[in-house]
Amino acid sequence: MRTPFYFYDLPLLRRTLDAVQEQLDRNPSFRVHYAVKANFNPGILAEIAARGFGADCVSGGEVKAALDAGFPADGIVYAGVGKSDEEIRFSLQAGISRFNVESAAELQIIDELAAEQDCVAPVSLRINPDIGAHTHAGITTGLAENKFGISYEQLDEVMDLTLSLPHIRYCGLHFHIGSQILDMADFSALCNRVNELVIRLQRGGRPVGDINVGGGLGINYQHPNHLPIADFASYFDTFRSHLQLPMGTPVHFELGRSLVAPCGTLISRVLYVKQGTHKQFAIIDGSMTELVRPAMYRAYHRVENLSSSEAEEVYDVVGPVCESSDVFVKEMAIDKCRRGDFVAIRSAGAYGESMASHYNCHPLPESYFFEG
Ligand code: LLP
Repeated sequence: MRTPFYFYDLPLLRRTLDAVQEQLDRNPSFRVHYAVKANFNPGILAEIAARGFGADCVSGGEVKAALDAGFPADGIVYAGVGKSDEEIRFSLQAGISRFNVESAAELQIIDELAAEQDCVAPVSLRINPDIGAHTHAGITTGLAENKFGISYEQLDEVMDLTLSLPHIRYCGLHFHIGSQILDMADFSALCNRVNELVIRLQRGGRPVGDINVGGGLGINYQHPNHLPIADFASYFDTFRSHLQLPMGTPVHFELGRSLVAPCGTLISRVLYVKQGTHKQFAIIDGSMTELVRPAMYRAYHRVENLSSSEAEEVYDVVGPVCESSDVFVKEMAIDKCRRGDFVAIRSAGAYGESMASHYNCHPLPESYFFEG
């Protein structure tokens, strides 16, 4: 078997989805749309689509991948600051349930393209809540300085435009504050913002529609074995107890990482153990081309030697790509490595395979599924 490859633990994915479903059963107005960007492997998409969840997409390609995997068009929402004409036309034809619109300029184009097709586009307005989530700067999205969403100042104006365009149907509001968020206070801050805005819209005699609070729930990268399932109970309880919406208002969630990160592992092999001046390197055949998160965000993924049970030694675990950032972890104690050992890089099911690249002419990684 050629390494590196992705290995997906389907029983764990199923237990994770069961845990989400348990929360949805307790909250009938809540609906989950899986954020396809986290992992669009067809096997993963099919598993999630079969549960009846919706899909959150950020490109025409993702809308197509979701449709192909069996997500119904009326369960697909589509966000993104730069939707192209071709992507909008395709999504209108497919009959998706929502365009999450990020600017007045985009709204006007969607209206024109819907007129061409003689249809009406269902639209939610993505609001920039200006909330700084406690996560990596590269993955906060809800700050005024970020490119995402419509600012508070422009909301009334864009809302009036939305209501006036003949080929646009206003459906609700959309928010997203960032990713890998573990502090529930960030989500309660979002709820407070949503509550303020809802009151403001109601006072101005404007419609509210439904509320999409985006995604962002984090997972425990440190202890993948002890805490394999994200804390969905605290997450959904935070929204249940903090949102103050008219009775029966649908609340949509766009979870990506928390659904799929734990079930994926990047399996790689040790090529060489190299003694440096002050440290030793375990050089493996996996690299930033299969899993870019450590190089891109200095993200931590637990590394385990699956072949050895010899006493631990300290290594920098690195890949073969000619970039000094091609490092998985520095100075980590793992069981003694020898050439040919299998190494597992854990919690890699989200933003792993979906961000893989061909850099250095590396082939894209294969994937295998453990069915249980
Ligand atoms: N909804 C919207 C509008 C988003 O932009 C995102 C993620 C999600 C939902 C899903 O968020 P999640 O539940 O997965 O946190 N590549 C980075 C993460 C980028 C997230 C981008 N947006 C990483 O590897 O950490």
